[in-house]
Amino acid sequence: MVEKERTEVSEAEVAVHWGEEEYYYPPMEFIAQANFTDPTIFDRFSEEHFPECFKEFADMLDWYQYWHTTLDTSNPPFWKWFVGGKLNACYNCVDRHLEANRNKAAFIFVPEPEDEDHSVITYQELYVRVNEMAAVLQSLGLKTGDRVTIHMPMVVELPITMLACARLGIIHSVVFAGFSGQACADRIEDSGSHILVTIDAYYRSGKLLDHKVKADQAVQAAKEMGQEVEKVLVWRRYPGEYHSEAPMVEGRDVFVDDLLKAHRGARVEPVHMPAEAPLFLMYTSGTTGRPKGQQHSTGGYMAYVTWTSWAVQDIHPEDVYWCMADIGWITGHSYIVYGPLSLAATSVIYEGVPTYPDAGRPWRISEQLGVNIFHTSPTAIRMLRKADPDGPKNYPNVQFKHMTTVGEPIEPEVWRWYYHTVGKDKAVIVDTWWQTETGGFLCTTIPAIHAMKPGSAGPALPGIYATVLDDEGNEIPPGAGRAGNIVIRNPWPGITQGIWGNPERFIQTYYAKYNRDPNSKDWRDWPYFAGDAAVQAADGYFRILGRVDDVINVAGHRLGTKEIESAVLTVEEVAEAAVVPRADELKGTVPEVYASLKPGIEPSPEIEQKIVKAVETIISKIARPKNVYLVPDLPKTRSGKIMRRVLAAISNGKDPGDVTTLANPEIVKQIHEMVKARHQAEK
Ligand code: WTA
Repeated sequence: MVEKERTEVSEAEVAVHWGEEEYYYPPMEFIAQANFTDPTIFDRFSEEHFPECFKEFADMLDWYQYWHTTLDTSNPPFWKWFVGGKLNACYNCVDRHLEANRNKAAFIFVPEPEDEDHSVITYQELYVRVNEMAAVLQSLGLKTGDRVTIHMPMVVELPITMLACARLGIIHSVVFAGFSGQACADRIEDSGSHILVTIDAYYRSGKLLDHKVKADQAVQAAKEMGQEVEKVLVWRRYPGEYHSEAPMVEGRDVFVDDLLKAHRGARVEPVHMPAEAPLFLMYTSGTTGRPKGQQHSTGGYMAYVTWTSWAVQDIHPEDVYWCMADIGWITGHSYIVYGPLSLAATSVIYEGVPTYPDAGRPWRISEQLGVNIFHTSPTAIRMLRKADPDGPKNYPNVQFKHMTTVGEPIEPEVWRWYYHTVGKDKAVIVDTWWQTETGGFLCTTIPAIHAMKPGSAGPALPGIYATVLDDEGNEIPPGAGRAGNIVIRNPWPGITQGIWGNPERFIQTYYAKYNRDPNSKDWRDWPYFAGDAAVQAADGYFRILGRVDDVINVAGHRLGTKEIESAVLTVEEVAEAAVVPRADELKGTVPEVYASLKPGIEPSPEIEQKIVKAVETIISKIARPKNVYLVPDLPKTRSGKIMRRVLAAISNGKDPGDVTTLANPEIVKQIHEMVKARHQAEK
């Protein structure tokens, strides 16, 4: 039979045109001090030892009672880990460290104003403050299983509130402070919270922002949705002072510092929680529909973040660890609060933006506190590189042993800047791929075991059976050079327990695509669909291409937007780039490029041409952008993700929709004008 010529590309296939990047090896000094250097773990965690192998993770915790069943699969895909076990997350993060580390810093709080002193909270002090806050919550009648919404910025009172909830088995739902009152209300309503915890004000980009006003909007909006908030607990940025225009509502609003007075010295016994009791909710927003409340467990989640903080983040008690993410996102929950504290680490909490008052701030903080483990996102790295590419060189005392990147794919160009300029060729980098839903890291190198490869997250962690499937569910073998959907074939302890109040949506979103039999009780029939496109190289490393909906199909060739963006980033004048699909009569869609330039560089037709050339030569003429727009900045969410959706709407002459929740809504208008003018000229 004559083989049919391949004229069509299957849905999950992405044409992968880039070459392989070179390996970078961890320095001997790093390996010599590393927590975890044992490659045999991959044998111990092979499929024949699943799920019992995960005892190794759970044994890092203190349990009141051991579990009888490691994994209960009786109701797929609602997995239960460590069933029968009892523990308390707050006890594991605080109480158990008192004996050896009472006087050690748990948190160092760095206010945004540079002339305001840092404050250090030792484990003893954390213990005292968490107990007192737990007593406050108890006095309001809150009990195990209730939900509390916490709308707070990066201040130490946020983890104190979270841990106080955890101590009592109250389920916390932290809402990112940058979210509007309305967004907070949606989450209050969905979770059924009667109590909202907030703060009067906090610093952001040099301004003391009024935050309490959002609480009033949230309570009002929640009420309109039928959810009554009975009490609003208001922390004060400066106890005793009040920095909000919003009046305190009689009978509803109370200052936490006032309430605490009645509970000075209180001690509250940690509640012995079942391993599968929910610890918290963290909402993810989809492109459509209401936000999804991802429900994380106590035992499985804590076991997973503790082990990964130890083995991947390499946190030792004597390290100074700074994760620049926001606690209002999953990264902050897992890798500022629960994972590091479980290991008795010192975790830095920085209130403000990395570039305030200038891009040297992160390096000054690191120098002053002796930070040696640094954790941030590609967006922050690009931003710092753009603002002052040689900046880190002015801080010779900054010496990182370990750096993390998380949240989006990192372009190899940007990775190399991080490695050479920030890490001074001495720090290992872990590119950790995971999601709110997954609780902790899934794919990353283990820093003392694997070599690094710029732009690739790395292999799957022990006990994570990751693979790439095409749309029909066939495995695409490593090294095939084709991309598809990354899936995890098995449950693991950190995975979300489901979407709060919406089991059907949970199944539809993550399992329906690849489930082989809805009645099966065998976990092998339930691969977890992450919604990301990826390609696996022959060495087993995964390169994440972005969300599956971030893919551009040009004349039947599916091109990863990230792939094109990486090509654009090789042009030395470019600081940041976003690529979006534009509808095209002949080709279906074609890419359009939005790029911002490094400081001091003026946009010019020459630079546009260089970008087009780079895309053509690095990827292919197929990927040739229809337009290159050199813009002052790219529209971003408050968490720093580039809003490709907004740019795509503009490229296609559509309304970009509501952009008021963006970090820089004003930029959208400017870009819109620019694109409209170009479209006019095309005619
Ligand atoms: C993306 C953040 C490439 C991915 C922890 C995922 C990444 C989404 C990486 C989850 C990475 C996260 N490389 N892409 N290292 N890490 N992503 O829920 O598309 O805020 O699905 O969790 O971010 O975002 P989330």
